[in-house]
Amino acid sequence: MESKMKEKSESVVDMSPTSAVVEGGVQDIYGEDCATEDQLITPWTFQVSSGYNLLRDPRYNKGLAFTEQERDVHYLRGILPPAVMPQELQEKRLMQTLRRYEVPLNKYVALMELQERNERLFYKLLIDNVEELLPIVYTPTVGEACQKYGSIFRRPQGLYISLKEKGRILEVLKNWPERKIQVIVITDGERILGLGDLGCQGMGIPVGKLALYTALGGVRPSACLPITIDVGTNNEQLLNDEFYIGLRQKRATGKEYHDFLDEFMKAVKQNYGEKVLVQYEDFGNHNAFELLAKYGSTHLVFNDDIQGTAAVVLAGLVASLKLLGGSLADHTFLFFGAGEAGTGIAELIALAISKKTNAPVEEARKNIWLVDSKGLIVSSRKESLQAHKKPWAHEHEPVNNLLDTVKAIKPTAIIGTSGVGRTFTKEVIEAMASINKRPLIMALSNPTEQSECTAEEAYAWSEGRAVFASGSPFPPVEYNNKLHIPSQANNCYIFPGFGFGLVMAGAIRVHNDMLLAASEALAGQVTEEHYVKGIIYPPFGIIRKISAHIAANVAARAYGLGVATRLPQPADLVKYAESCFYSPNYRCYR
Ligand code: NAI
Repeated sequence: MESKMKEKSESVVDMSPTSAVVEGGVQDIYGEDCATEDQLITPWTFQVSSGYNLLRDPRYNKGLAFTEQERDVHYLRGILPPAVMPQELQEKRLMQTLRRYEVPLNKYVALMELQERNERLFYKLLIDNVEELLPIVYTPTVGEACQKYGSIFRRPQGLYISLKEKGRILEVLKNWPERKIQVIVITDGERILGLGDLGCQGMGIPVGKLALYTALGGVRPSACLPITIDVGTNNEQLLNDEFYIGLRQKRATGKEYHDFLDEFMKAVKQNYGEKVLVQYEDFGNHNAFELLAKYGSTHLVFNDDIQGTAAVVLAGLVASLKLLGGSLADHTFLFFGAGEAGTGIAELIALAISKKTNAPVEEARKNIWLVDSKGLIVSSRKESLQAHKKPWAHEHEPVNNLLDTVKAIKPTAIIGTSGVGRTFTKEVIEAMASINKRPLIMALSNPTEQSECTAEEAYAWSEGRAVFASGSPFPPVEYNNKLHIPSQANNCYIFPGFGFGLVMAGAIRVHNDMLLAASEALAGQVTEEHYVKGIIYPPFGIIRKISAHIAANVAARAYGLGVATRLPQPADLVKYAESCFYSPNYRCYR
């Protein structure tokens, strides 16, 4: 028998006399372990997962939570230790392990490993501990993860489409194992958070955002597709890094870049149809505006940096009116920073005012002023301004520092979107406090070091009168024996519910009215109990409830606008949204 086996093994692969001798272990009958590059083999696998393979399939694996009966039926006896552990206990154990890591990046890696090992447990952890884990799966830790993605890369969590695949993008999309995709988050890695060009390593962003789509917005994980478009990078450090995972070339630009993106957008529609949402993330400023304008009328596209930020900040402004008094049209807004965030927010405020007052948008823009790195945006600069800044070039003499601008414009709200820290100085906040009973100060730049001012500074320099919100979180501040709780204008409030609303209604286009609907829904979740504490956003702990209301309002607007295709319209959209939410609880196997 043994000699027969040996004969067989030698006939399958042509082994040299020395390699045929297997020392120690069992003989390699089929020559699998001896396959070398010139001995071709076919990778093959089972269709139905059971036994060891079931434990290695993250979508179905339950680890120690497999019941006695499931262990019998699915050939798991002996492969698992005897204890049966309910999902809640697994969660408790994992949270304890995570809390022991001191370095946030280690927590990130542990969470990603869990996602690759047991998907439902990963989402259960994320949903039940959202406030604690959000800074790990998303900003700020995800930023560090992207910087080191080459070293921590284990298994692909999304699709990489590089210039090598030019002309074959449709084919590449078909390689992804899931067919029914509802949300794609895509980046080209050019401007990852505040960290600049991270090329192909930007993949952490779509992966993180889609994890939040599932945890906060209820989209099934199998319906989410993270994509990184790799057109090269201008980051010299990465180009010289031996572990860099992307193309080693400078960024393609101009026609080459746009033709490639065009091929991608066409392939997406061809493969997944009209109703798939494409969310652009962390593209360079110039491309972000252009892509949104170009594909907004032909595809279901959304840019979180521009539109999501706008909706979340508008919600805060609407909620703050309860504290400041008046309507949006009664206020004067001054933006410090006129990029994607600043102009996106400004445009949505103008639209909201125009809808409320029936005035043309051009008229509504007049109470909104923007400052960029060259000073106040005024009509005499119009010729040299980028397209997205031109609508804000009002008649005024040039002013080139923020303090003088505040004194000249007398805003009721200043909104920092410059990415430059400590620019809301004591003098600027004191000037705001001398003009307004309750000045609204929004220091939105991230991360914390880039914030235009801290919460403590805003409260202290305004004698505790400021209504304050920031992009990065700040702890509560005690000033004059009163506890002030800063609000956080976190994009995670809006995009998961917004996207889910589009998917739920089968919307085929994004309309600005839907962004207004999302803002209204978020502002509507701020109650008297929150206003008393001076906060203008609801607590993050109830985010699934918030997302359901946002989704319902967005879907209602999609039906109203005639761009919803899922018919008939459900009677109670909030209940319907809640009923469609992905649940991370384990399912029973027959
Ligand atoms: P961007 O690069 O598109 O725009 C930055 C703008 O700031 C440009 O108009 C630039 O001219 C201006 N600027 C730069 N230096 C300046 C200076 N010294 N004085 C005056 N203006 C100056 O960047 P983007 O995407 O608009 O983001 C800006 C900041 O907003 C970032 O820090 C980002 O983290 C933050 N942000 C916060 C969000 C939130 O809180 N939910 C959401 C999105 C962005």
